Amino acid sequence: MFILQRQVEAPAEAGAPGYPGYMDTVVPAAEAPGPQASAAQSIMDLERACLLQNYARYPLVLARGKGCWVYDLEGRRYLDLITGIGVNALGHAHPRITRAIREQAGLMVHSSNLYYHRYQGELASRLTAMSGLDRAFFCNSGTEAVEGALKMVHAHGRALDPEKYEIISLDNSFHGRSMGALSVTGQAKYRADFEPLIPGVRFIPLNDVAALEAAFSPRTAGVILEPIQGEGGIYPLTPEFAGKARELADRFNALLVADETQCGVGRPGVYFAYQRSQPVIMPDVVVAAKPVACGLPLGFILANEKAAAAIRPGMHGTTFGGGPLTCRVGLEFVDILDELLPSIRCVGAYFLERLQHLAAKHAVIKEVRGFGLMLGVELHVPGKQLVLDGIGHGLLFNCTHENVLRFLPPYIVTEKEVDRAIRILDRLIAKA
Ligand SMILES: Cc1ncc(COP(=O)(O)O)c(C=O)c1O
Repeated sequence: MFILQRQVEAPAEAGAPGYPGYMDTVVPAAEAPGPQASAAQSIMDLERACLLQNYARYPLVLARGKGCWVYDLEGRRYLDLITGIGVNALGHAHPRITRAIREQAGLMVHSSNLYYHRYQGELASRLTAMSGLDRAFFCNSGTEAVEGALKMVHAHGRALDPEKYEIISLDNSFHGRSMGALSVTGQAKYRADFEPLIPGVRFIPLNDVAALEAAFSPRTAGVILEPIQGEGGIYPLTPEFAGKARELADRFNALLVADETQCGVGRPGVYFAYQRSQPVIMPDVVVAAKPVACGLPLGFILANEKAAAAIRPGMHGTTFGGGPLTCRVGLEFVDILDELLPSIRCVGAYFLERLQHLAAKHAVIKEVRGFGLMLGVELHVPGKQLVLDGIGHGLLFNCTHENVLRFLPPYIVTEKEVDRAIRILDRLIAKA
């Protein structure tokens, strides 16, 4: 009997059949791992046979999680510093979140937006207070929130002049994979197969104030910015650039949209990343999603009265968005977040400092960037093998933009867990 085994050590060319980055080899059953490992293999093989092959998954089958740790089918544990790409902000199986889900699941999961329920208004009121904006709309993901914000920008522009529909976005940005969100995503690798996209989008380099000034015109309806670029490799906006975007948006009556899907809702150590600058540079619209319902799908748009006025009854909607289960969990999350913000700042600063020490020690590290618990380590070499080696050593993180190791730890991570991660990284990077 033979089974198919994945060899982590030997990455194949990107785009190779199967799981990109892995080589499939046939090994005799005698040398094969035990029954749990073959259970993992069957799970991977079934997916491979039945799912669209759009994901390059790592060869790890997760079974459960507790706090900052996740466990595979064989009970091996991994320190989770990527949290489902910034989603499991309170780690796994947080007792208050688990209780809220259990209770609400027994009462009502979905009610639709035909009717009222108790939690949507309450969560809107909390998020508007946290952001300084006036109104909220709930949906299911970051992409969907971006779509809604783009419609808001277009409707705002068209109400003033049918020719006012241009949107300014940044090179290297990421805003999601729907046709609208892709249209403002400044990375050719995501867009190329889907052109032509929505017209009227102008891309400029990050933090290039002169390019921003040159791109604005009376046709500009809006500008969309990630206060800290995530997929693009953890690049923060400078306050000068954000301030100029605010000034020009006011001058040309355009809407300033902050996409906080990855960098927002506590991750930078404040509620929203745009609140880091002093004085705060207020956007007209904020979109966010990932952490707010701790793993349940919930995205949202926040808007000031001016932007919100662009959307009249019937112009936008969603079936699932803002249901009682997700909103109740979101409320529990924002309560807990208030208690965690100081620790996010403190442990985040500690993690950054420890990574900077690694950078001083290992020449392969080019730069360390980020704020709070959103950190990136740029390497002079591709980072994928380090991510695979990390899995082998019980540490989960990922690599974005080819050579930036990305860390989006849970907000409950401790200095002790950071120390453990640093010890493993130190060894892995020494090998690299
Ligand atoms: C800044 C930003 N915007 C939008 C999205 C898309 O969000 P989602 O995957 O929830 O649709 C992401 C996802 O990583 C993101 O980082």
